[in-house]
Amino acid sequence: MSLIPDDVIEQVRDSADIVGLVGETVDLKRTGADYRGACPFHGGSHRNFAVIPKKGRYYCFVCHESGDVFSWLMKRFGMDYPTAVREIARRTGIVIPDRPGRAGPDPREPLFTAVAAAQDWFARQLQEAAAAQPARDYLAGRDIPLETAAVLGLGFAPPGREFLDAMAALGIAPDVLARAGLTTTREAGREDAAVIPRFRGRLLFPIHDLRSRVVGFGGRLLGPGEPKYLNSPESETFQKGKLLYNLNHAKAAIRKAEEVVLVEGYFDVLRLSLAGLEHVVAPLGTGLTPDQATLLRRFAPAAILLYDSDQAGLRATFRTADELLRHGVRVRVATLPPGDDPDTLVRAGGIAALDPVLRDGLDVMERKIQLLERRGWFGGVEHRREALDRLLPTIQAASDPITRELYLSLVAERTGVSKDVLQRELMERSVRPAAGPSGPGAAPAEARRPSRRDQPGAAPRHRTRSSPETQLLQVMLAAPEWVERARAEVASTLFESARLREVFEALLRAGAGDQMPPGLSDEAQLVWSKLKERAQDWTQLDIGKTYDRAVQILCARPEYRRLATITDPGEKRRCRTELQARYPEADRWYAWRPKGA
Ligand code: CTP
Ligand code: MN
Repeated sequence: MSLIPDDVIEQVRDSADIVGLVGETVDLKRTGADYRGACPFHGGSHRNFAVIPKKGRYYCFVCHESGDVFSWLMKRFGMDYPTAVREIARRTGIVIPDRPGRAGPDPREPLFTAVAAAQDWFARQLQEAAAAQPARDYLAGRDIPLETAAVLGLGFAPPGREFLDAMAALGIAPDVLARAGLTTTREAGREDAAVIPRFRGRLLFPIHDLRSRVVGFGGRLLGPGEPKYLNSPESETFQKGKLLYNLNHAKAAIRKAEEVVLVEGYFDVLRLSLAGLEHVVAPLGTGLTPDQATLLRRFAPAAILLYDSDQAGLRATFRTADELLRHGVRVRVATLPPGDDPDTLVRAGGIAALDPVLRDGLDVMERKIQLLERRGWFGGVEHRREALDRLLPTIQAASDPITRELYLSLVAERTGVSKDVLQRELMERSVRPAAGPSGPGAAPAEARRPSRRDQPGAAPRHRTRSSPETQLLQVMLAAPEWVERARAEVASTLFESARLREVFEALLRAGAGDQMPPGLSDEAQLVWSKLKERAQDWTQLDIGKTYDRAVQILCARPEYRRLATITDPGEKRRCRTELQARYPEADRWYAWRPKGA
């Protein structure tokens, strides 16, 4: 049995949700800060069994059985200790470094070290370097004191290449910098190909994982230009769809408040936490992913969304709300005065200006109804149908049965359509392919009818046998926006074939066009022509899916390689289960390529 490092065990214990875990088999009622239920150990019928979330422990006042999340699984389900740790880790999405028989350092350790060293260096630049004066002025202009920036670890990446020398002086190898997403290659495939720092001339926000290790950066330009924000690319250590900005700092406050405040940007988080509102996090420039919703659910049963109140902000609000509802998180929507974001509002009026906004937050369903009402959508029959089309998906998203029932009642009352009819319509709709809910809060599988796509006679599923690299390139060739996404998210070091990497880098350089980028080697030219021959007409849905899948397969490759080297069958099974949960698409791919090829 492999040794699980102590700090990992600590981390797993810290992030576990003991109330949720015990609550799966014991009916718990809240009393003050604790929860009470009938003791399953001595089979009591009174509520003498306490679960104390603050301490992460349970205790029976009658039989004195006590313990933590691990002993719960061991005593109640007969697991051994490592299995219990792994089970909790799996639920909380923590990766346990898995090298049975030869316990050694996490192979990603050099990457963490590199990112930490970089963060340290960038922070020092911001505080001291003459070249960082524009960044210091910028912060002053946004009312962020330099001392605060220091405490938060903000940094400045100078426009030149001095970062490379600094890292070399610290003995950090170039390939580690590349794997950590800190460098990139300009003019790849040419004579004068050059490695350059990824972040140049940007103010940097360090992004931490739950253990407070720096894993990446969000970098803002100081002036106009594109992209305004640039993130670290996807890598072995940085997966932005699984991280939330500031969660490492906010998690205790979120648990305490039993609610999380979700904002759109780095500066919003900064401003709110400076003003004393600590339970605030932001996604990293994308919509909220299912993984992020799962993560949040571990810390709080409720969220309040504090997004811009313009059209884009509203769209993001409702999409995010549905994702949270699918994961059993209750959602309120706070409405900012037009033109304000949390940063500007609190900067001008202090936290006092935000208080009423948060207090007046409406449940997401009530907010939807309110907006539709204001637009007069409950007036005529025609409009009511359309209103229903907007409301039903949110009812459907609610995986918590009570929330769902409340929503049904609200919508029935407001539209005058009976709950029965609404229920039937929801059933009908669930036949159509849903946006794949997953995770603990998702509706149970048996409640969903098979989707049309699984039925015979449906359009053939897209079964691509080409490599993930090839798939990604094909997507990139289809439209410039995908080149831009790949530029922001995919490190070229993830490409193993030199030819394909060359094409990838050429695309980043030249963009997606019909002209073959200049300077390609003969082999890369061949690849290019083949890709062009096989160019497809994509639907927006397919292209997005193919992109996501290809990137997931690329990112998961090192871990599946490691899996292939595990010999102990039990160990292998557990490791596989973990990977399956994290990389469902990639898992299907590697299932018939057991070597992780
Ligand atoms: N974002 C991003 N890439 C962009 C634009 C935005 O990743 N090109 C992300 C960043 O995390 C940013 C958030 O989306 O913090 C909100 O974007 P936006 O509203 O444009 O930025 P603000 O927070 O208003 O940024 P600022 O106040 O710095 O203008
Ligand atoms: Mn802003």
